[in-house]
Amino acid sequence: MSHKSDLIAEDIERYLEVHQHKSLLRFITCGSVDDGKSTLIGRLLYESKMIFEDQLAALEADSKKVGTQGGDIDFALLVDGLAAEREQGITIDVAYRFFSTEKRKFIVADTPGHEQYTRNMATGASTADLAVILIDARKGVLPQTRRHSYIVSLLGIRHVVLAVNKMDAVGYGHEVFEAIVTEYREFARRLGLEDITAIPMSALKGDNVTEASDRMPWYYGPTVMQHLEAVEIEEGLQQRPFRLPVQWVNRPDQDFRGFAGTVAGGVVRPGDLVRVLPSGRQSKVARIVAQDGDLQEAVDGQSITLTLEDEVDVSRGDVLAAGSAPPGVADQFQVTMIWMHEEHMLPGRPYLMKIGPRMLNASITDLRYRVNVNTMEHVAAKQLELNEIGVCNLSTDRPIPFDAYDDNRETGGFIFIDKLTNDTVGAGLIHFALRRSDNVHWQALDVNKQVRAAQKGQKSCVLWFTGLSGAGKSTIANLVEKRLLALGRHTYALDGDNVRHGLNKDLGFTEADRVENIRRVAEVSKLMVDAGLIVLVSFISPFRSERRMARELLDDGEFLEVYVDTSLAEAEKRDPKGLYRKARLGQIKNFTGIDSPYEPPEHAELRLNTTDMSAEQAADVVIAKLSEAGLLSG
Ligand code: ADX
Repeated sequence: MSHKSDLIAEDIERYLEVHQHKSLLRFITCGSVDDGKSTLIGRLLYESKMIFEDQLAALEADSKKVGTQGGDIDFALLVDGLAAEREQGITIDVAYRFFSTEKRKFIVADTPGHEQYTRNMATGASTADLAVILIDARKGVLPQTRRHSYIVSLLGIRHVVLAVNKMDAVGYGHEVFEAIVTEYREFARRLGLEDITAIPMSALKGDNVTEASDRMPWYYGPTVMQHLEAVEIEEGLQQRPFRLPVQWVNRPDQDFRGFAGTVAGGVVRPGDLVRVLPSGRQSKVARIVAQDGDLQEAVDGQSITLTLEDEVDVSRGDVLAAGSAPPGVADQFQVTMIWMHEEHMLPGRPYLMKIGPRMLNASITDLRYRVNVNTMEHVAAKQLELNEIGVCNLSTDRPIPFDAYDDNRETGGFIFIDKLTNDTVGAGLIHFALRRSDNVHWQALDVNKQVRAAQKGQKSCVLWFTGLSGAGKSTIANLVEKRLLALGRHTYALDGDNVRHGLNKDLGFTEADRVENIRRVAEVSKLMVDAGLIVLVSFISPFRSERRMARELLDDGEFLEVYVDTSLAEAEKRDPKGLYRKARLGQIKNFTGIDSPYEPPEHAELRLNTTDMSAEQAADVVIAKLSEAGLLSG
C-alpha cells in the first residue's frame, strides 16, 4: 500500500503504534453521481495515499483510456472501478472504504447514487458520525439535498459538511456560494442540524479538497480533509448505559455458559449488576471473555462473551443491560419508517422485524402521517411508497427490549423484511413505547381451547376458503357446514359479504382495506378456534401475505387453506351477483381479477377445481380431508 509517511521508514513499530491509536471517523457522502461524489471520494483516497499500488497503476491507465479528463487522472474511475468489483457476485448495497492520514483513520460509506438511494443511504448512515452533503454549485439546493439532509437528521448524524462542489464551473464566485449556504442553513435549522461546515470546492480541480485553493481567496475556512481530520466527535456512546444484545448463547459444555455479542453502548466490568431483558432477571457479571483472555473492562463496539454469576435464562436476542438503567420493554411503539421497496408498505400487513440480533413478527397498525421531505409537512396517507418516510404506530408479536433511537441506534433502530421474498423493505427508528406491555398481561384462563373443544367432542380448526368472487367459496362452505352439523359438530361460518355488513362495514376494496379486512377476520377466527369451534371462512382473501398471517396466528394443523380454483373466464360467466359485468363497465373499481390482483395459493392444503367438480363433490372432498387430518375424530 502506498501510504506515505516518514515514520514508516524511520520507525515502523512506532508508526504502527501511532496508527493504532488514531481516532476513527465514520462518514457518509450524499449526492447523486453527477454531483461529483465519486470524484471527491476518489481524490480523498488518492491524496491520502491510501490506495494500492496496482490500483494506482490501473487508475492512471484507465484514465488515459476511458477517463473523462483528457488524460489527467479521472478520480471517479477509482471509486466506480472499485464499485464494479463488488458487482461481480457479492451484492452489498453499501461499500465501506477505509483510508487514513497522519491524524485520523476514516471509514466512508459509499452509497451508489441511483433510485435505491434512500435504502443505501439509510444503511450506510446508520453508523456514521458525519455526512458530507454534496451540492452542485450550478444547481444549488435540490429536493434531493433536502431529502438526504432529512434522513441524515433522522438518523441522528450531528455533523454535516456542506460541500459546494463544481465551484470551477461558476467562476469560483463568492455570491453563488453564499446564496446556497444561506438557503441551506435556513432549511437545516428546521431539521435541527446544528453543526454545518460549508466548504466551496472543486473535486475535479482539487480546490479545497486536501489543498487550500488560491482561486477562492474570499474563503478562509478549512479544506474538506482538514475538517474531516479535525472535527470533534462525541465519544458519547461510552457514557450511555451498558447494552449487550445477545447474538448467541455459547454453551460448549455443562460448565460454561457465555453470552456473546457486540457491546452497543456503555462500559461493562466484572462485578457489574446487569439485568436481562425482556425477562427482567438480575445477576452480576462474572467474567468478560475475549479472544485473547479475560478483560477487566469492555466498551462500546467490542465483541465479547459475558458470563454471569447466576444461572439465569438468556436467549439469543435478549439484551443484557446496566442494572440501574435498563431499556424499556414494550410491544407497541411510535416509530418513523423509511420505506425502501417498490412494493409499498401497507398498515396491517405482517413483516419480519429485525432489531439487533432479534427477529420477530411485526406490523404497522396505523400510518399516522407521511412527511413531505421538501416542506416537512405532515401529509395524511394510507400507504408508504418507495423512498417515502412516515410516522407510524407499530405492533410486535411479543414484548421486546428497546431504547429510543435518539438514545441508542443499535437498540432503537430496526429493519423490516418481507416474509415471502426476504427483501429488506424498510428501516425504522423507535421514538417511544405507546404502552408498556408490563401493564397488560395475557390472562391465563383455566377453561381453555382444549377444554372447550373437548366438551363439544371435537378439535377446533379453521377451513379458510380463498378464491375469486363467484368461484363457489360460500356455496361449498355452506354445504360443508351442513354436513358437519349433521355429524354433530359445532361450527361457525364467516362469510365476506356478511362480515362486511357488520364488523367490517367501514372497509371497502382498496388494497389497504382488504388487508385490514383479512386481519380482522383472521383474529376473529382465532377467537372462534379458541372457543372450540370449527370455523369456515370464505373471503376472497386475494393476498398471500395476509393468508399467511392468518395461518401463523393459529397453531400447527389448525389452519386448512382451501383454494377454490375457478378460471376468471368461468367465474365471469357465472357472475352470480352481476358484479363482473359492472366491473367491466367500470361501475365497480378494484374488482378482484379485473383491476385488482388475486395471488393464488402456493401451498394450500386443498385445491378444489370447481370447473370440473360440482359443489357437492367439492364438499365431500373437504369432509374427507378433515377426516384424514384427524379433525373429525374428536
Ligand atoms: S376480500 O378481497 O377483502 O377478501 P371479501 O371476500 O371480503 O373480499 O368480499 C368480497 C365480496 O364483496 C365479493 O364476493 C363481492 O360480492 C363483493 N364485492 C364488492 N366489490 C368488490 C370488489 N371490488 N372486489 C371484490 N369483491 C367485491
